[in-house]
Amino acid sequence: MGIALGLGDLEAEERALAQAALEVSTHAYAPYSHYAVGAALRTHAGAVHRGCNVENAAYGVVLCAEVGALAAANVAGAGDAVQVIAVTGHLMAAGAAQDGAVVTPCGRCRQLILEAAHRARHDIRVLCCNHDLSRVEVFTIAQLLPHGFGPGNLGLG
Ligand code: THU
Repeated sequence: MGIALGLGDLEAEERALAQAALEVSTHAYAPYSHYAVGAALRTHAGAVHRGCNVENAAYGVVLCAEVGALAAANVAGAGDAVQVIAVTGHLMAAGAAQDGAVVTPCGRCRQLILEAAHRARHDIRVLCCNHDLSRVEVFTIAQLLPHGFGPGNLGLG
């Protein structure tokens, strides 16, 4: 499904995006899951917007990293210009055994990225990275959320 790559196989801009996601994951507020996630997206204009997960004692209101990055793009007036988004995550405990698996966006985040793809009028690349970026699986949002509910269902092409 996704193409498994090492970071070095990506073009420079996407490599930088994965690194930006890793950097911003250090700002995660995740005292409950102890799992830090970072997301970084690039717009058509080349701007990078980032987000990290922000948890809450009321567990259900957690903000995922992708939500922050997408919100930042919207704040900058670029919610309709998202080209590619990178996501990475790691267990925060010192010395924690990382499982090495790539992070794929949760279902809600896939729905949000699908809407961004509709607004951009093209599919969006999703770079799913593991904890240290040694593994990257490249998907498109159409692959991650096939048959998704979208504006077309509401008669909005
Ligand atoms: N998380 C994200 O930030 N993005 C995802 O796509 C998957 C899950 C966060 C939410 C929560 O703070 C932690 O990871 C564990 O679920």
